[in-house]
Amino acid sequence: MSSTILITGSTGLVGKALVKMCLSQGHIVHYLTTQKSKIILTENCKGFFWNPQVDLIDICCFEGVEVVINLAGSSIAQRWTNTAKSSILSSRKQALELLYSIIKENKFQIKHIISASAIGIYPHSKTHYYNEDFNGNDTSFLRKVVRSWEGALKSFKSLGINTTILRIGIVLDKHEGALPKISVPVKAYIGSALGSGEQWQSWIHIDDLIRIFMFVLDLKLYGVYNAVAPNPVQQTDFVKSVASIFNRPLIFPKIPEFLLRFVLGEMSALALESQRVCAKKIQDLGFEFNFHELDAALDDLL
Ligand SMILES: NC(=O)c1ccc[n+]([C@@H]2O[C@H](COP(=O)([O-])OP(=O)(O)OC[C@H]3O[C@@H](n4cnc5c(N)ncnc54)[C@H](OP(=O)(O)O)[C@@H]3O)[C@@H](O)[C@H]2O)c1
Repeated sequence: MSSTILITGSTGLVGKALVKMCLSQGHIVHYLTTQKSKIILTENCKGFFWNPQVDLIDICCFEGVEVVINLAGSSIAQRWTNTAKSSILSSRKQALELLYSIIKENKFQIKHIISASAIGIYPHSKTHYYNEDFNGNDTSFLRKVVRSWEGALKSFKSLGINTTILRIGIVLDKHEGALPKISVPVKAYIGSALGSGEQWQSWIHIDDLIRIFMFVLDLKLYGVYNAVAPNPVQQTDFVKSVASIFNRPLIFPKIPEFLLRFVLGEMSALALESQRVCAKKIQDLGFEFNFHELDAALDDLL
């Protein structure tokens, strides 16, 4: 059944693909953007301006909306200066807080909110196999961001709105995100594994991720779900798979951790942390991945 869906953060990597899928399935899409230049108005797809930093939002965006999909947040793939860290943390919280207060104030009849989250909620571990029940109290920056993000979503329940959290892994897309950062140097004969290369990387093909969003939307699945492919790989194997797709040798030794920390600073955590995350919960509910194995995903994307 088609409905009107409000999407935040819709101009990003995930959002663009999600909007396309929603429209192709006959839904009407309203989207919120912080960039006035990205507002377009067509019959089925309407953009609205907001700026959660200053509590500014065009409330017409809620007209007829039953479902909200929240993807908004300042990119974590930027150097973690104090200003950037504050923006990464607050942008996610402020976006949800603004949606909450406007829905409450205007008594908008939203039935379901689905929010992006991240597997960064799971602490760095080379041995743990994480499912959604894991409860840790690690206080590193990534954990703090994701916990506060998920925490802000809980308040919607007090308005009688059903909530779904998708803890997204490393999204693989041909043009944006992590994959080009790995594949471009490999193709240019200068690729190498990062750190020990033993860290687990829980990836997901962009198409499967979008299918998971549609799956939880269509089946009205509430709660927390990992959005990762069933077969995470270790970093060395990831780079080797990319090299084999391009038929390139890996000439250079692994880039040592200390060097990555020196060059990237604290954000080197994104490359060095290990999270082996389990996809069983969503699979047990009937979700079928098109891309189970990394090689198949890379073959499709590269
Ligand atoms: N890509 C991944 O591998 C991955 C993995 C795990 C989790 N996630 C999470 O999933 C969500 C979507 O991922 P993505 O890769 O599509 O991210 P993205 O490409 O960085 O897009 C996020 C969108 O959020 C909006 N945004 C940026 N700063 C904002 C701010 N201060 N206030 C409000 N909105 C802001 C922007 O849209 P406008 O400019 O139109 O406002 C931007 O296009 C993100 O929250 C991300 O953290 C992504």
